[in-house]
Amino acid sequence: MVATNMKKQKHTYNPYENFLTTMNNAASLLKLDESDYITFKYPERELKVSFPVKMDDGSLRVFEGYRVQHSSVRGPFKGGIRFHQDVNMDEVKALAAWMTFKCAVVGIPYGGAKGAVTVDPTNFSETEIERLTRRYVTAIAPLIGPDQDIPAPDVNTNGKIMGWIMDTFSMLRGRAVPGVVTGKPVEIGGSLGRPEATGRGVSIITQELLKILGKNASDMKVAVQGMGNVGSVAAKLLDAAGCKVVAVSDVSGGIYNQARLDIPRIIRFLDNKKHLLKDYMEDGVQFISNHELLLCDADILIPAALENQITEEIAKEIRAKIVVEAANGPTTVEADSIMEGRGVTVIPDILANAGGVVVSYFEWVQNIQSLMWNELQVNNMLHDIMVTAFQNVVQKVRDSNISYRSAAYIIALEKLASAKRIRGVYL
Ligand SMILES: NC(=O)c1ccc[n+]([C@@H]2O[C@H](COP(=O)([O-])OP(=O)(O)OC[C@H]3O[C@@H](n4cnc5c(N)ncnc54)[C@H](O)[C@@H]3O)[C@@H](O)[C@H]2O)c1
Repeated sequence: MVATNMKKQKHTYNPYENFLTTMNNAASLLKLDESDYITFKYPERELKVSFPVKMDDGSLRVFEGYRVQHSSVRGPFKGGIRFHQDVNMDEVKALAAWMTFKCAVVGIPYGGAKGAVTVDPTNFSETEIERLTRRYVTAIAPLIGPDQDIPAPDVNTNGKIMGWIMDTFSMLRGRAVPGVVTGKPVEIGGSLGRPEATGRGVSIITQELLKILGKNASDMKVAVQGMGNVGSVAAKLLDAAGCKVVAVSDVSGGIYNQARLDIPRIIRFLDNKKHLLKDYMEDGVQFISNHELLLCDADILIPAALENQITEEIAKEIRAKIVVEAANGPTTVEADSIMEGRGVTVIPDILANAGGVVVSYFEWVQNIQSLMWNELQVNNMLHDIMVTAFQNVVQKVRDSNISYRSAAYIIALEKLASAKRIRGVYL
């Protein structure tokens, strides 16, 4: 029997509309002629695939997947692969476009792309996920490659899955092609420092912001939504830097301790997604919902889960005075302007979570030149790039009296429009 997991798509919130509104605002602040940025309104390519996967019980299921290549004007396409039950084309288009702007704001010579499979991986065995990954890679293989489009991990994907991607693509080419994907295990060409890079970048940016606001880390209460790859590392490094992490959550809900949570203990408990926070036990810990986490008594809120979390309703009541967007697209356009009006400082995703693509770039550079860098070297270079990008954005905020999001988009759009002008229009 052939079953299908094709789901009815949600269309109430459209992340691509969110992206377009933000880009259009930046273009009008820059007084750009539409011809300078019209190409960035449209992804260069959108691929939708469906493919069968054999289940462990012998049945066959058909899954849908996507790969969207938003822009290659500044270099090869680059962007992660997400496995999630709710993904749809508009979400993947937005994620791809955000990658274009993220690479531009930190000055990495890549364009933007994103891929996804509509699947809840928690419902499948590891061997089923391996077969699904290999079939998905085979389906998008004509579009990817070290000079073309380089995937990486995102929600519900990890180093092991990147290893299967590298192997599948290498089998198709008949030779080892480590540079086709980043975020791989070190044994097959991954970079030291890559698993922690996104969370490390979030922590660097947060600490740089505290410096310019004249605040001490030890006076800051932090709430982190999403204790996955990105959120757990950000929580760990900010805790180590002296911040009081008072609330964290995952898909099962959140935990709160007004004094301070024991972050190293929580990370050991979660043990790379083997447990959920709803089962965590520690004296003084209160269970809260994800909604309560967003509104809890914290100075810094770090959304590190999914899009569309900080909505208008949340923005009106949020108590944190600083939001550092570790997730992609966690804030709606409406919520963004409400928070701006309420004096909340929001560090946009395209800057805050760029650490992942920066170290992915380092991994790719090592792969294509057969180099191996040590972790200190990688972390130092990441630090320099993140701090420089942050300072450029701060300068723009001060010069033009605009939000961090507008400043980051303006910097990115200037680089993109300039690259487009230099390259010209083919025929
Ligand atoms: N992995 C990277 O290198 C990277 C780079 C840049 C941006 N991002 C972005 O960071 C975010 C998190 O990615 P990740 O790689 O850490 O994913 P992950 O799968 O490792 O972790 C996601 C976390 O969010 C939680 N979660 C899922 N649904 C939730 C919900 N509805 N409410 C609250 N929590 C929920 C999960 O339980 C998990 O703790 C995504 O927006 C992703 O696009 C990731």
